[in-house]
Amino acid sequence: MIKKYSFGRPMDTDAVVQSLPPESEPLPYFTLTRTGQGVSLSLALSPDEVLFGLGESVRGINKRGFRYRSWNSDVFNHTESTESLYASHNFLVFFSPERLLGLFLDDPGPVTWDLGYTRSDTAVITSEFGDLDIYLLEEDSLPALARAFRRLTGRSYLPPRWAFGYIQSRWGYASEQEVRAVVREHRARHIPLDAVCLDIDYMVDFKNFTWKPDAFPDLKAFSRDMKAEHIRLVPIIDAGIRTEEGYAPYDSGKAGGYFCRKEDGSDFTAAVWPGMCAFPDFLRDDARAWFGDLYRPLLDAGIEGFWNDMNEPALFYTDGTVSKAFRRAEELQKGSVDYEAMWFLKDAFNSIANNMDDYRSIYHFPDGKPVRHDRVHNLYGAFMTRASAEGFRRYDPDRRFLLFSRSSFIGAHRNGGVWQGDNFSWWSHLKMALQMLPNLNLCGFLYTGCDLGGFGCNVTEDLLERFLQLGVFTPLMRNHSALHTRDQEIYRFSTWEIMRDTVSVRYALLPFLYSEFMKAALMDGMYFRPLAFDYPEDPRAVRTEDQLMLGECCMIAPVLEQNASGRYVYLPEDMLMIRFRSAADYDLVPLGRGDHRIDLKLNEFPLFVKKNHPVLLCAGGESSALLDDRRLTAVCRMDRDVAYDLYRDDGISPSPDLEKSLSRVSISADAASGSAVPGVAISEVLL
Ligand code: GLC
Repeated sequence: MIKKYSFGRPMDTDAVVQSLPPESEPLPYFTLTRTGQGVSLSLALSPDEVLFGLGESVRGINKRGFRYRSWNSDVFNHTESTESLYASHNFLVFFSPERLLGLFLDDPGPVTWDLGYTRSDTAVITSEFGDLDIYLLEEDSLPALARAFRRLTGRSYLPPRWAFGYIQSRWGYASEQEVRAVVREHRARHIPLDAVCLDIDYMVDFKNFTWKPDAFPDLKAFSRDMKAEHIRLVPIIDAGIRTEEGYAPYDSGKAGGYFCRKEDGSDFTAAVWPGMCAFPDFLRDDARAWFGDLYRPLLDAGIEGFWNDMNEPALFYTDGTVSKAFRRAEELQKGSVDYEAMWFLKDAFNSIANNMDDYRSIYHFPDGKPVRHDRVHNLYGAFMTRASAEGFRRYDPDRRFLLFSRSSFIGAHRNGGVWQGDNFSWWSHLKMALQMLPNLNLCGFLYTGCDLGGFGCNVTEDLLERFLQLGVFTPLMRNHSALHTRDQEIYRFSTWEIMRDTVSVRYALLPFLYSEFMKAALMDGMYFRPLAFDYPEDPRAVRTEDQLMLGECCMIAPVLEQNASGRYVYLPEDMLMIRFRSAADYDLVPLGRGDHRIDLKLNEFPLFVKKNHPVLLCAGGESSALLDDRRLTAVCRMDRDVAYDLYRDDGISPSPDLEKSLSRVSISADAASGSAVPGVAISEVLL
């Protein structure tokens, strides 16, 4: 059951697809207080209450015990103290033996989530502007609640099948030769690969929708050559358009009046990678249509996937913030130079980027009337994603395009995926990546993953290997790293063979993982879930923070610590452990419910599978297009006949038919009799 309560003057954020009339009764359960223009909701939490949700945010799967703030931010360098990341996903689930309640704040402005931070027994959620719709969801189970929320906000984005392949990316690839060399190194060593991302260096002076004529003399031919090798190019597009007369996207944007404005009516400008930029007013339908069509030259060149970046929007500086900092420096210079003055000086310069005064000076015109940016800040990235997706649909309505964005808001999950932003090559960020996954899924973002290996800092061989072991299971499996960091392609490392073997497991599992993903997406389910969703009565499972349910029947428990030779795993029921070393090399170990210490050498990682549920493996291959998904090996711990419906489709059609795409795999109980591992069947399946 879903009920809607309106406050102030909510605007259409595109988050919700179900139209519900607002209730006339007051909001139940919560104590409401008005603070200035804001609205606060508070709720007493019972000692055993667990909170899930908030999608992309720091800290645990259970969000209790910290304060988060929905304010999309460019936060290179985030740690567990960072209250705001790149996205705002205002959906929270309260879960205890006494209560199961979903709360969605459809609020495009800043929202503070004090979840047991000020007082450990109280949640206080504050909408700072107070113009919002609140939705309360009540169902009888966690999965039903997640499904209800998805029905409210719409079906998750479907990527093309090739987007489940391994993607190599690096900030710095600057020419066709360089990309060809990357592909060559992968192919020569048989490291599977489906795509290479082009970061800003493919552009002329970092200007969107351009590419360097000398470095990429014939992009169409290049993309065609790559596709012949089953490789897709995935260029980046940033939010800002450089303000340069004679540069077509700027000229057409200016002529159409499509940029965000300042109070005096002039275009708002700020510097990002290309220098001074104007910012498309994505909240306007006509500006979105214009921007979505700017992708055409790249689409015409055969590009089928993009990543949208810097769309919080990130602002490096404006003329205003720079002069203010210099003025402050001059003032400080007049006084005595002491440590306090030095802090002020630093602060003056640190606040140049992403400054609130700048965000307050931007105006959007969604229906012709001005709306100040800070009131709708969290929509910007989502509406950029929408502009792109709408553009792709106009360009080719019969094809799924790959699209993932850095910034997002609920609603954007219908149009694209997200990556988790600029993480570091830190073990703590490996754990953080894992913990974000189920909450992103709960908020609708199924196609997601982190920068494997870490974006900032220098990765080590073992850390990259452990990142890849998580990446085997994340829908977006992309190795990405920052300029000036250590080279991070698999082939750069002495242990490249074990990394290759790890990626080979992804390809052996790809038909199965794709099936699990598509079924979750098409049935409004979750690909990754907290264990609580499957074992709500098991307090150990409910509190598990480093294992995730995957698809209908699997559980992952990656190694997240440096120098570990294994880890403890909690099994909420009897399961089969598949300990992988490569696509063809794995152990099958039946384990009982309870705690287990699992040995996992650097090249080993486990997948746990519920009893009587098969996992299907294909022979693997070097590209998703080359996998034989008709000839499979079913691995199953079983004590009865079992069946699995494998989802298969053409990988690109935007409206696949779920029923028609299912092929039934049946394994009879005797398949397990007489097998090498008692009770475990290994059966060949031909479809
Ligand atoms: C941002 C992105 C990162 C990208 C870089 C250069 O930091 O998050 O992924 O590599 O910009 O474009």
